[in-house]
Amino acid sequence: MKVLICDKTEQEYIEQMRAAGLIVDVRDDITAEELPKVLPAYDAMVVRSRTKVRQPLIDACPNLKVIVRGGVGLDTIDHQYAKSKGIAVMNTPLASSASVAELAIGFMFALARSIYKATSSMKAEKWDKKSFEGDEIGGKTLGLIGLGNIGQETAKRAIALGMTVIAYDPGVKEFKGIKMVAFDELLAQSDYISLHLPKTKETTNMISAEQFAKMKNGVRIINCARGGIINEEALYEALTNGKVAGAGLDVFSEEPPTDWKLVKLDNVIASPHIGAATKDAQARVGAEVAAKLIEFAKNMQPV
Ligand SMILES: NC(=O)c1ccc[n+]([C@@H]2O[C@H](COP(=O)([O-])OP(=O)(O)OC[C@H]3O[C@@H](n4cnc5c(N)ncnc54)[C@H](O)[C@@H]3O)[C@@H](O)[C@H]2O)c1
Repeated sequence: MKVLICDKTEQEYIEQMRAAGLIVDVRDDITAEELPKVLPAYDAMVVRSRTKVRQPLIDACPNLKVIVRGGVGLDTIDHQYAKSKGIAVMNTPLASSASVAELAIGFMFALARSIYKATSSMKAEKWDKKSFEGDEIGGKTLGLIGLGNIGQETAKRAIALGMTVIAYDPGVKEFKGIKMVAFDELLAQSDYISLHLPKTKETTNMISAEQFAKMKNGVRIINCARGGIINEEALYEALTNGKVAGAGLDVFSEEPPTDWKLVKLDNVIASPHIGAATKDAQARVGAEVAAKLIEFAKNMQPV
């Protein structure tokens, strides 16, 4: 089986695939223009977030048998269309959950204690103790929107830190240690709201002016899921009128953003979509991608 690696993948796992007899070529800087010329010669492709697999590319590659996405979401792949063409689509749903959860918790600590602002102030050689009185996250209520793999990992950590965790997820009826609540109840009760759900037609702009109005004054919001689930204009407004005290954002409706005004707000801390970008998660992703491809190749009918 011939495999094209289209995005960064750990060398160790590329070697594992080769040792299992797969022919693996690495073009992890391949452009969207080059892909339709190169990919038709391959049975399998490995992508992360960078490479998008849309309908025209799928149509250009009638021999493609499997697409493996190292990561959780499949929104970068026209996966239903691929499946309708008989192409298997796989991902690595669990490999990065702990890393994303740790980033969400990190954002909460950073917001509660103004770690970013205090650091900037110190780098400007100021010793400004008065400006940085914070609050504890223990004893506060964390509302999780989406209680799948990452939501659950976040909940475990938050509970261990002494937070009360409530969650809204139409797909989860009950979960030990967490009170499942209606969406509006979550908005009204939470001191922190963290998003861990996929971006779909239904969830795009799910948090907008109407939802901000239902939240506690001074709520803090974390989005390590996908940009656009929160309406960014409404968030900007809520952060500037004091409704929302702070936001930690790893994802944006446009990546990179063309309009940086949200990121530049004093009460926003931000990172460039690095939720899964830890050595630990990358190693687990690489191992899972290799295992899935090796297994797929074993089951492939000889032609
Ligand atoms: N920042 C990053 O680098 C990064 C990395 C990995 C995943 N993610 C994002 O995190 C999201 C969650 O990942 P996961 O592994 O927990 O996925 P998951 O599929 O395990 O869980 C998602 C949960 O969201 C729930 N859900 C769906 N629609 C909902 C709605 N309208 N309201 C409330 N809940 C809803 C589902 O029932 C499910 O339980 C992914 O979809 C992805 O977009 C981001």
